[in-house]
Amino acid sequence: MDKLKIAILGMGYVGLTSGIAFSKHGFKSICTTTTRSKAVNLAKGIPPFYEPGVEELLKELVNVGMLSGSVNNVEAVDQSDVTFICVGTPSLPDGSADLSSIRDTARDIGIALKEKDSYHVVVAKSTIPPGTTEEIILPFVEKYSGKQVDRDFGLCMNPEFLRQGEAVHDSFNPDRIVIGQHDKRSGDVLEYIYRDYTCSKIRCDIKAAELIKYAANSLLATKISFANEFSRICEKFNIDVYEVMRGVGLDFRLNPRFLDAGCGFGGSCFPKDVSAIKTLAKNIEVETPILDAVLYTNEIQPLHLVEIVRDAVGSLKGKIIAVLGLSFKPNTDDIRATRALPIIKKLVEEGAKIRAYDPKAATNFKRLVDLPVEYCDTWEEGLRGADLAVVQSDWKEIRDIKAEDFKRLLKNPVVVDGRRTYDANLLKAQGVRYYGIGWKNKA
Ligand SMILES: NC(=O)c1ccc[n+]([C@@H]2O[C@H](COP(=O)([O-])OP(=O)(O)OC[C@H]3O[C@@H](n4cnc5c(N)ncnc54)[C@H](O)[C@@H]3O)[C@@H](O)[C@H]2O)c1
Repeated sequence: MDKLKIAILGMGYVGLTSGIAFSKHGFKSICTTTTRSKAVNLAKGIPPFYEPGVEELLKELVNVGMLSGSVNNVEAVDQSDVTFICVGTPSLPDGSADLSSIRDTARDIGIALKEKDSYHVVVAKSTIPPGTTEEIILPFVEKYSGKQVDRDFGLCMNPEFLRQGEAVHDSFNPDRIVIGQHDKRSGDVLEYIYRDYTCSKIRCDIKAAELIKYAANSLLATKISFANEFSRICEKFNIDVYEVMRGVGLDFRLNPRFLDAGCGFGGSCFPKDVSAIKTLAKNIEVETPILDAVLYTNEIQPLHLVEIVRDAVGSLKGKIIAVLGLSFKPNTDDIRATRALPIIKKLVEEGAKIRAYDPKAATNFKRLVDLPVEYCDTWEEGLRGADLAVVQSDWKEIRDIKAEDFKRLLKNPVVVDGRRTYDANLLKAQGVRYYGIGWKNKA
């Protein structure tokens, strides 16, 4: 098995970082895409998105011929022994997962396998509702290949848990590897691919593997919404929610991570995955009051940040507001479901003029969002002459802004911190009017 070659259908955050990790572990890999320019760039070592560490590794692996790009799924599958499906599964308007790329890739795998004699393992890595691997991918592959699962090809579901912004680290150091297997033989192939990983490996039913991913993301989103709900209770009592959650998180039955209150979660996973499983549950007549509340809290939290802005400076009409950070979190240029959007929308509705700064995500935001925003190349430019600053995404360079910078550049040194980026007491002691989510704003 040591010469296994891997096809990865999809070269997004998951596909490309998986390709990097597999090829670094000695498995020659091909990542595919439907966009020709992305494949051409990949051949030059240029990644299709910003993610720390990806560009350096990509260049290294492309140069030694361990990683390549293609727009031809059929050819990529044909030249490999194992295929990972890593295409996007975005939300449809009703909240359910759009599985059209899953169907397209399953069909392409079937077409490729028709002409292949050797055993091949098909692995679903995209986040997909329970039943998708066995009820969509499997019949598509069988139909287009004329072959039979278990006998001619293997089938697995191997959910991905990486975090954007830390994708390379997470691909090499996962907390666990979940292998949903149709039969033992296909699970053994995945176990072999991951043989150098020392973390726990769970082998389970395919549907369980599919649902583990949704359950994990739903629970993480629940922790965030829980902390956010408490942030609003804390503000009323003039209590610091971070102090409260520190005390909560030290309980051995809990975990202190993901209890950081802020202006809500975004990105391509939590909102879409919680919506998908909630919609699926509704369709099978299962009530989901917890998931409903998690999403509702996430909708009101960015608007609550605007309330804090209003409490801080009164009417927003004509006020110039510097919004720092547009990506859904630091270290990524991804703006999918970023909380910057509802925040800026509401601020504009209330008559504010927006200046926005983000180290990497401004181009994506500008392309996808039609709002009157002045984009700035530096945070200094954003702050200069503005009435106040609102922090939406705490990139390091935004975290490093000092009290003296706010005092020097802003008309009035007012900071509304949606991510609890700064040491509030320090900023206040140094003459900045500080307001934050879950902070003692009335003190
Ligand atoms: N981004 C994350 O942090 C993350 C983490 C874990 C799991 N996931 C899940 O992994 C899957 C992929 O996520 P992503 O963030 O990498 O998506 P993405 O949108 O960044 O990338 C999707 C890729 O699929 C390609 N693609 C679409 N249709 C294709 C086709 N027919 N053939 C070949 N390529 C095709 C696109 O060109 C793109 O390169 C999703 O189901 C997502 O929910 C994402």
